[in-house]
Amino acid sequence: MGFATDAIHVGQEPDPATGAIVAPIYQTSTYVQEELGKNKGYDYARTAHPNRRALERTVAKLEGGSAAYVFTSGMAAIDSVFRLLRPGDHAIISEAVYGGVIRLTTQLLVQWGLEFSFVDTSSTGHVERAIKPNTKMIYVETPTNPTMCVTDIAAVAKISAAHNATLVVDNTFLSPYLQSPIALGAQIVVHSMTKYLNGHSDAVGGAVILTRPSDAEKIYFLQRSAGAGLAPMDCFLVSRGIKTLAVRMKQHDANGRAIARFLEDHPCVRHVLYPGLPSHPHHNVAVRQQRGFGAMISFDVVNLESARNVLNHVRLCSLAESLGGVETLISHPATMTHASVPPEVRERIGITDGLIRISVGIEDVEDLIEDLDQALRKI
Ligand SMILES: Cc1ncc(COP(=O)(O)O)c(C=O)c1O
Repeated sequence: MGFATDAIHVGQEPDPATGAIVAPIYQTSTYVQEELGKNKGYDYARTAHPNRRALERTVAKLEGGSAAYVFTSGMAAIDSVFRLLRPGDHAIISEAVYGGVIRLTTQLLVQWGLEFSFVDTSSTGHVERAIKPNTKMIYVETPTNPTMCVTDIAAVAKISAAHNATLVVDNTFLSPYLQSPIALGAQIVVHSMTKYLNGHSDAVGGAVILTRPSDAEKIYFLQRSAGAGLAPMDCFLVSRGIKTLAVRMKQHDANGRAIARFLEDHPCVRHVLYPGLPSHPHHNVAVRQQRGFGAMISFDVVNLESARNVLNHVRLCSLAESLGGVETLISHPATMTHASVPPEVRERIGITDGLIRISVGIEDVEDLIEDLDQALRKI
């Protein structure tokens, strides 16, 4: 079946008890047993529940994995993946990764004897040189948030395989509609489902998609033991959101391309970071491995004062963290999403004070352009 058909039907069969076309929200903590040692497949909602199982089937299918587990946030999902490592293990991470991953690894997971190197994974040479005898994982975010660096997944997968490491890809920015990391050689995919998968800015969630039964077993053990599995209502919301993923992503992609072109031609914008533009240094890799360019764009307006002027004058775009919803969000990475990243790291990876990030929604693109234009003219 095609992507849109799978997104609507896999895991979303009519409710066997009533025929309801939409599975009910199983808002219950426990399940009554038929007799001692015999239940109907569920016993306690931390361990599993029907809405979670349904969503996990959909997500596994869309990413081409053999299993998926969903968590209370993207960070909870990512945390579970790093817990596949043992004390003494080393992981290579994209240096321009989402700030929360830097905080999780450098301030928390290091306390359990894990070692991390932050590397520009868009350069295979850098990845190769960062490999150590104890390297067990390469964790790639592509494109990166908010610097829009693209990593060649297939090329890094080769390096990772040659060193018996696990390749993990954060596919949040493009969604499985526009990029398939597993088909390119990754063993694990992670998502902040808070973003495009749900798409309506009304739930927080994360997913881990796996290809190896041994990893799946460990992640499920973690999910039910540590207890960060996603609750029924949130699973229901994300499942509903995913049904329109294909149509939403088509529109996000079209709007993203149009806004990127508009910004590139604007006299108040110094430069635009969007892999869909031929001027982007990783444009060719993006063309090869993506099925579109999505709707995340960063652009530089030189300094904090100009950025503040734009952000304080938008009317239709909303000044807010997060991304991937139907409504356009605009933010200032240096003081918002990436404020926890040390200033010297921010400078090195290009999160300047003049950088603005926009998550282009699916409104009429002419309205978005008019809004951005009037805000940019306030500089
Ligand atoms: C690329 C990326 N990965 C992971 C996360 C973390 O997800 P969550 O906020 O759902 O915990 C985010 C959050 O912004 C993100 O942008």
